[in-house]
Amino acid sequence: MDNPFRYGCVVSGDHFCERVKAERELRAFVKAGQNVFVQGERRMGKTSLVRKAVSGVRGERLVYVDLYCIGSQSDLCRRVAEGVGRANESMPFLKRVMAFASRLRPSLSFDATDGSPKITIDALAAEEPASLGIVMSMLEKIATDGKTCIVFDEFQDVFRIKDFERVLAEMRSRIQFQEDVPYFFLGSVRHEMWRIFNDSKSPFFKSAAAYDVGEIDVGDFSRFIEARFKKGLRRISPETARMVIDTASGVSGDVQELCAALWDVTSSGHEVTESDIPAALEVVFMRERKGFEKAVSMLTPVQLRVLQGLALHPKLRVFGAEFLKSIGMANAGAVSKALKRLEDHNLVHETESGYRFDDSFFRAWVLKSAT
Ligand SMILES: Nc1ncnc2c1ncn2[C@@H]1O[C@H](COP(=O)(O)OP(=O)(O)OP(=O)(O)O)[C@@H](O)[C@H]1O
Ligand SMILES: [Mg+2]
Repeated sequence: MDNPFRYGCVVSGDHFCERVKAERELRAFVKAGQNVFVQGERRMGKTSLVRKAVSGVRGERLVYVDLYCIGSQSDLCRRVAEGVGRANESMPFLKRVMAFASRLRPSLSFDATDGSPKITIDALAAEEPASLGIVMSMLEKIATDGKTCIVFDEFQDVFRIKDFERVLAEMRSRIQFQEDVPYFFLGSVRHEMWRIFNDSKSPFFKSAAAYDVGEIDVGDFSRFIEARFKKGLRRISPETARMVIDTASGVSGDVQELCAALWDVTSSGHEVTESDIPAALEVVFMRERKGFEKAVSMLTPVQLRVLQGLALHPKLRVFGAEFLKSIGMANAGAVSKALKRLEDHNLVHETESGYRFDDSFFRAWVLKSAT
């Protein structure tokens, strides 16, 4: 049997652990025609959750636009046109929407692998400032029947466009008149999403409700893991499943990656136990070791000590006496400076409940090297 765990991709169907509460809350936004900005840590499951939650509400059609690594307005316009093409619409309707954007010389083709329609527009024409208005009109047009939900994923990558201020202002001015159309803006770079939606100088200031995608409920996730292993005639106890979730810091994608590695180091009929976790982690470390070693080699001894302290004592307050004592430092100022550097290196980030590692496997690796 193939490995039943999936990571590094959007998951659905059997590979998706139900998130009943979150799905219900997101659906309520769709029904209300409410715009939402959705944030959460990397690999926490934002894209999979939003795609699952919005499909199927009031016959909702999903226009999904991924802005990952766009570099120009032309890229943005082309991604919107592609999103419209994949919106599950009838051919005559798609052709009407395309006619509307004739200045961008749209053409329709079909994906060689899955046969889905693909609208392509002229890259040069799409760079002209007026083209943004045209593709935004395509979205307005497709949403006229009140059954469309529009998702912009990795929305913070709009900052990669040279004149992003103009682009954001134009997008906002078009979106604000579509009162009943729910727009979802997903992003994982918290301070950039904050800048778009919470900075009073941004055109999107307070224009959408905030929604945080956190960890999957531990009980639900552990039952999901048990069921997946069972499919391959392997057993795992709820306690071990919880230990796996904890080792991967509750990050959905990392949990599935660790489970996939556990699957690889065990065989049919096996009872997966705590003692299998180190071997599974080694599988993951083998893939990641070079990057981890490089990251650590760039740190000063003080920064490394703080990093190890964070891995060892995730629950201690970083400026509290107990934490300082545990890392053998007395100077809170030096800790603060080190934390800032660790954040600049994208190794840790601050949350309401303290500092967290950006990569849960890096934390596990630091932990192993520190003990
Ligand atoms: N509901 C879920 N049940 C089980 N695993 C999930 C679920 N949602 C996400 N995952 C796991 O997390 C991985 C990443 O999911 P997804 O791409 O949806 O997250 P994301 O937060 O959008 O990530 P990114 O920050 O990279 O955009 C998936 O490949 C899968 O392993
Ligand atoms: Mg995503």
